Amino acid sequence: MTSSAIPTPSGMNRLWYGGDYNPEQWPREVWDDDMRLMSRAGVTVATIGVFSWARLEPRDGEYDLAWLDDLMDLLHATGVRADLATATASPPKWLIDKHPEILPVTQDGTVLSHGGRQHYRPASAAYREHATRLVRVLAERYGDHPALEAWHVNNEYGCHVSRDYSDDAAAGFRAWLAERYGTIHALNAAWGTAFWSQLYTSFDQVDPPRVTPAGTNPTQTLDFDRYSSDELRACMRAEIAVLREVTPEIPVTTNFMGFFKGLDYWTWAGDLDFVTDDHYPDPEDPEAYVLAAMTRDLMRGLGGGRPWILMEQATSAVNWRDFNAPKPAGMHRLLSLQSVARGADGIMQFQWRQSKAGSEKFHSAMVPHAGEDSRVYRETEALGAELASLSHLRGTRSEARVAMVVDWPSWWALEQDSMPARISYVEQLLRWYRALHRRGVLVDMVPAAGDLDGYDMVVVASALALSDDAVTALAAVPARGGQLVVGYQTAVLDEHAHARLGGYLGDLQQALGVWIEELWPLRSGALAGVAAGPVSEWGEHVRVRDAEVLATFSGGDLDGLPAITRRADGDGAGWYVATAPEALGELVERVLDDAGVVWSSLPAGVEAVERGGHRFVLNHSSVPVEVEVAGRSYGVPSRDAVIDQL
Ligand code: GLA
Repeated sequence: MTSSAIPTPSGMNRLWYGGDYNPEQWPREVWDDDMRLMSRAGVTVATIGVFSWARLEPRDGEYDLAWLDDLMDLLHATGVRADLATATASPPKWLIDKHPEILPVTQDGTVLSHGGRQHYRPASAAYREHATRLVRVLAERYGDHPALEAWHVNNEYGCHVSRDYSDDAAAGFRAWLAERYGTIHALNAAWGTAFWSQLYTSFDQVDPPRVTPAGTNPTQTLDFDRYSSDELRACMRAEIAVLREVTPEIPVTTNFMGFFKGLDYWTWAGDLDFVTDDHYPDPEDPEAYVLAAMTRDLMRGLGGGRPWILMEQATSAVNWRDFNAPKPAGMHRLLSLQSVARGADGIMQFQWRQSKAGSEKFHSAMVPHAGEDSRVYRETEALGAELASLSHLRGTRSEARVAMVVDWPSWWALEQDSMPARISYVEQLLRWYRALHRRGVLVDMVPAAGDLDGYDMVVVASALALSDDAVTALAAVPARGGQLVVGYQTAVLDEHAHARLGGYLGDLQQALGVWIEELWPLRSGALAGVAAGPVSEWGEHVRVRDAEVLATFSGGDLDGLPAITRRADGDGAGWYVATAPEALGELVERVLDDAGVVWSSLPAGVEAVERGGHRFVLNHSSVPVEVEVAGRSYGVPSRDAVIDQL
């Protein structure tokens, strides 16, 4: 266990606890009440200014900072640290009137209007110029303020507009492509433009993948996904460059959105001093805690194992689903503890005080409409006290022996049109993750080209469009004694989304001892052998060259053909799984045993995680449970937790 706490200019030794604080929506006297309630609740950090641009710069180049001065001083006097936003997420109306070309354009050509938020094109020069000008003003004014703990760059990049099809985007895309390919000839080869007469003779001819009559070029779309992630990242980097120049000692972050398809967070995380995440599990979904756990593990992975901060969650209901169930008593606490157990050094919420007006007035907050005499505020206070008692966990890390590959380009490619079947990438990850989670196994999320050396077991649930280098790195796992588990739709394509001919899989053919003759989407079927029972979604005609067949399809068109194989290589092995078995857990237990990873059998709704010498046993279910983890017994009431010092 090594310590690597979130950088802190103030030497803060508590976990972050607080939320988005938007006092500009309230009369000044409410601010004093906010300070009283924050103190009572043990709030340590407030995220301020996220949507304040129009208030901070009411007219072009005219700044009104007096209210923010007042707020920073007030927070400081209360002992609350400021996570100060750069306020660039919602451009003011004067800027849109002056530069209407800032507005983003959807794939079908609709121009999005002012009146919501995030109405800017990432590639707009005018947007970037005005945004960085504001950032400089804020950095110069508050860089030395004693309340300043961190910079919160923009907000949830890409949340509403991760793909912009405007003319600015077209120009940006062309420049990005020229950089990537060098010549139009190379682009034609990569995009396979011999197909359907799509040949280009110059980069100027290339457009974003706007709405087309039929199957848009898959590589054009994949490259546009890459470009769009990079262009938004360039917005973030432009702001960070100003902050690092003016206030080099203040750490910077931006809030991620978990498994957000729009942005390849592996390429983003390195620009930040620490990773933060916004996550809103659906209280109605009894399995939401599993995706939540996987998301926490992704955040830990994005930070290279270092602690991260849960930047937003709801204390109870959100307001943006079709039906917004409140969180029943205990659920908010449990999901907060889950985050701490999985590496979070802070628990923040959206937002501090529930809005009276605007489109989020039905979104819960730490202080609800009802005020302090309420279940939600009492939970706010109790959570603050509990987190204060866990301050000593700050900076501690956990070591996982199992890794799972997450690859955004493969996600983009898998969910394109014109594929053999509609498959959800996150569902595929979850299927494997759930089996490991039920066995109390901590999983690190890693990039496809990441360092896999420290792991005894590496799971590639699916990674459709990998480069040769990434495939070769994965294929090396069994030879060095690791267990490599590969699920279907892996390395079927290369990074240009071209089929890998001669049986797919590339170098993995050798490591797994199999090749694929034919892809065979399968709505339902059955297995005989390991993980016997029903399967769904997928099948294949797998040809075995040099592997043991652990399970075969049983019945149907694939009857008797291999479905799960294992090729031993010294202490290591390459496992291939060509379908989605319901009894996946049985297979996972076998691989864990071979990897020498200790596991426990946990009942549904329960998770067990260790961090900093403590074991968190969390019961998300609505019934009390008795569980045994690593030789210790725990009785955990429904929707409750036991934190056991080891
Ligand atoms: C996002 C945003 C917040 C707020 C919440 C509501 O996470 O960052 O400003 O809109 O959603 O759930």
